[in-house]
Amino acid sequence: MAGPMNEAPLVEMRALTKHFGRPPMLVHAVENVSFSVNRGEVVGLVGESGSGKSTIGRLILRAIDVTSGSIVFDGTPIEAMSQRALRPLRRRMQMVFQDPYASLNPRLRVSDIIGEAIDAHGLARGAARAARIAELLNIVGLEAGHAGRFPHEFSGGQRQRIGIARALAVEPDLIIADEPVSALDVSVQAQVLNLLQDLRLRFGMAMLFISHDLDVIRLICDRIVVLYLGRIMEIGPAESVCGSPAHPYTQALLAAVPRPDPDRPRIRRMLHGEIPSPLSPPSGCVFRTRCPYALEACASAVPPLRDLGDGRVIACVRDDIEFDVPV
Ligand SMILES: Nc1ncnc2c1ncn2[C@@H]1O[C@H](COP(=O)(O)OP(=O)(O)O)[C@@H](O)[C@H]1O
Ligand code: SF4
Ligand SMILES: [Mg+2]
Repeated sequence: MAGPMNEAPLVEMRALTKHFGRPPMLVHAVENVSFSVNRGEVVGLVGESGSGKSTIGRLILRAIDVTSGSIVFDGTPIEAMSQRALRPLRRRMQMVFQDPYASLNPRLRVSDIIGEAIDAHGLARGAARAARIAELLNIVGLEAGHAGRFPHEFSGGQRQRIGIARALAVEPDLIIADEPVSALDVSVQAQVLNLLQDLRLRFGMAMLFISHDLDVIRLICDRIVVLYLGRIMEIGPAESVCGSPAHPYTQALLAAVPRPDPDRPRIRRMLHGEIPSPLSPPSGCVFRTRCPYALEACASAVPPLRDLGDGRVIACVRDDIEFDVPV
């Protein structure tokens, strides 16, 4: 659901790079990452643990500083903005965290958890504030009468709903949801995903949806960005990335997803071996140590993003691979 063609992206990363520490313990967490999220669009960020997904989320929120590169939010570069100058923008980006137990202050009542967000930006007071809290609880499928309860009185799924209500309280333009359902039981995951989908249709906010699980991502996202060791491997519309994955790494990720029907054609090229250390990523294509198609040339230069036409780009030097994998 991208906006009109002439509309600038809501948030755009340009050559975003983040290193932690210093040599010889320099962690290459995010390397030269460029992509955008349009207004009202849901973009999925997928990759194995340690691929740099959360780091990108924290960079956008300016919870950590960039090493280099740029983040443009609604036309304004924010990577070097002072925390003070950021304040008005803060309201427009909200986070939903993975762990609904750790992310809610156990000593605060639900009304205070949601109220904090309302107060921080001076959005409502008195009766209007209470009414807004009741409304938000309703929106996320909880009872307004539960406003006086503490987090421990709720299930994991309900707590995640409280976290979502807190994010919605300030009517953000962008929600960054970092593994929002990964800590929940599978049955509850679907409910929370449905809620996020409903909210997105109802309020039209954009979302950066972070998950290691391509099966979760494909349910909710318009576009998918596939990360490996801090680098983009593939970007494209969700249907094409999941339906006919073009990059060998995306193919391997999809092959790793268990399929209920054992007779369905399966990708033979499974991921083997461990993800290399981000302290010393492989030269050239970072995926080459696990790639079944790797050539000698893959070690010499980082593959540039290549446009495949259908809204898709991949970082792979080979154009002679039969990407015929039925998924
Ligand atoms: N504050 C930090 N200090 C040092 N290394 C970090 C820090 N935060 C993340 N990293 C490292 O950066 C890499 C990317 O981490 P992260 O963004 O959390 O990955 P993901 O969310 O995809 O699992 C990992 O190797 C992780 O250990
Ligand atoms: S550039 Fe080479 S190693 Fe990297 S994904 Fe393509 S074929 Fe594999
Ligand atoms: Mg993470």
